Amino acid sequence: MFSASEIQSVKQRFGIIGNSPLLNHAISVAMQAAPTDMTVLITGESGSGKESFSKIIHSLSTRKHGKFIAINCGAIPEGTIDSELFGHEKGSFTGAHEARKGYFEVTDGGSIFLDEIGEMPLGTQARLLRVLENGEFIKVGSSKVQKTNVRVIAATNVNLIKAVEKGKFREDLYYRLNTVPIYVPPLRERGEDMILLFRKFTTDFSEKYNVKPISLTEDAKKALLRFPFPGNIRQLKNIAEQVSLLEQEREVDSPTLSKYLPTNQTRLPAVFAGTGAGESTDFTERELLYKVLFDMKKDMNELKKLVLETYQSGGLNANIINKHQTLFEDLESPVSFEQHSPPVQSSNVPIVLDTQKSADEDNLYEDEAIEDIIHEEDDNSLSLEKKEKEMILKALRKHNNKRKYAASDLGISERTLYRKIKQYDID
Ligand SMILES: Nc1ncnc2c1ncn2[C@@H]1O[C@H](COP(=O)(O)OP(=O)(O)OP(=O)(O)O)[C@@H](O)[C@H]1O
Ligand SMILES: [Mg+2]
Repeated sequence: MFSASEIQSVKQRFGIIGNSPLLNHAISVAMQAAPTDMTVLITGESGSGKESFSKIIHSLSTRKHGKFIAINCGAIPEGTIDSELFGHEKGSFTGAHEARKGYFEVTDGGSIFLDEIGEMPLGTQARLLRVLENGEFIKVGSSKVQKTNVRVIAATNVNLIKAVEKGKFREDLYYRLNTVPIYVPPLRERGEDMILLFRKFTTDFSEKYNVKPISLTEDAKKALLRFPFPGNIRQLKNIAEQVSLLEQEREVDSPTLSKYLPTNQTRLPAVFAGTGAGESTDFTERELLYKVLFDMKKDMNELKKLVLETYQSGGLNANIINKHQTLFEDLESPVSFEQHSPPVQSSNVPIVLDTQKSADEDNLYEDEAIEDIIHEEDDNSLSLEKKEKEMILKALRKHNNKRKYAASDLGISERTLYRKIKQYDID
């Protein structure tokens, strides 16, 4: 293990304030993991300070002279993330006028920080797993397998195990990423660190704006220590700045400070439910807007999948609705769809109630296939099925009819591919 002064010097170098045992432990795990080439998964609530950990790991590794790229998986549209990470060939999709290298190629010999890994689409997860297992990747629209040597550091503020249970995150990838777990503790578990951080932020602020620094009375310190800080250090920083900016009296007492510590946290509109960011959270207006947009984007994608699946199975059925339950969770009166509930009849498409197959059986892989279709879909496409068949044929040809590789390229299971080959009567 590392001595207190070794840990202290890392904190100094990376601007990390605090001295709580949980924080020190997390830092020493990062220091221990850094020189190995192991994949690291950093978990912790939003605003707890995960980003610095990725920098510690890269900077203390043997790759420190190599590139370090941080990517926010939640901020890249689903349709472009594969190409961003793995590159694409010229003409591989509408608008791909030139071939492009992806981050995994560019960062060869360095490290990639995949932030908000829980937001990564399933198709991309399949590609990531491959590159983690044997360093292999294929550019979008290419058939050439390329090699790269990149160390992956991932972070998430959502519970990945829950995401695995919901079929949104691959279990194999979860275990692969979690080789070295680092848990960044929430601020409320760091005790006196709150005071140190508050002092640091108000001092920074006073220097920046050339004002007298804020100090807290003993009562105000106690009030600060009692506050749960659902938004963690990010929230503490905002509060420190507000107090510094707005208070005339530079010694702040408990009643004054309490004005900045929301007692009854604003209940967020239902649309935020299930983001995993925590039950009661204090958000700034801009963060609120981001969240609304993110959740709308998620719902839109979920809706797209529902529409496609409805089309593919020839009509809406209970399986499909149950699979996309998250879309209905926000409704005022909860909706339950039983297996036998009467399907919504579309005028000319026969209803196929897929009772044979369990709703979850193929979810993971079907989702990937559908995602691929969404990305590759041409606006003028008349038939999704035709497109799917074409893609399957293309993948089979590319891999000399080796189903295993074709399936992996398509991001579906071999079993699903087998079923589709039969469905489309492919020789
Ligand atoms: N121990 C610390 N000392 C000083 N500043 C910190 C510390 N931890 C975090 N911060 C600051 O708090 C802010 C939030 O940290 P960061 O962006 O790393 O959070 P996060 O865990 O990545 O959150 P999210 O999951 O929302 O992305 C940043 O401005 C960061 O510099
Ligand atoms: Mg972050």
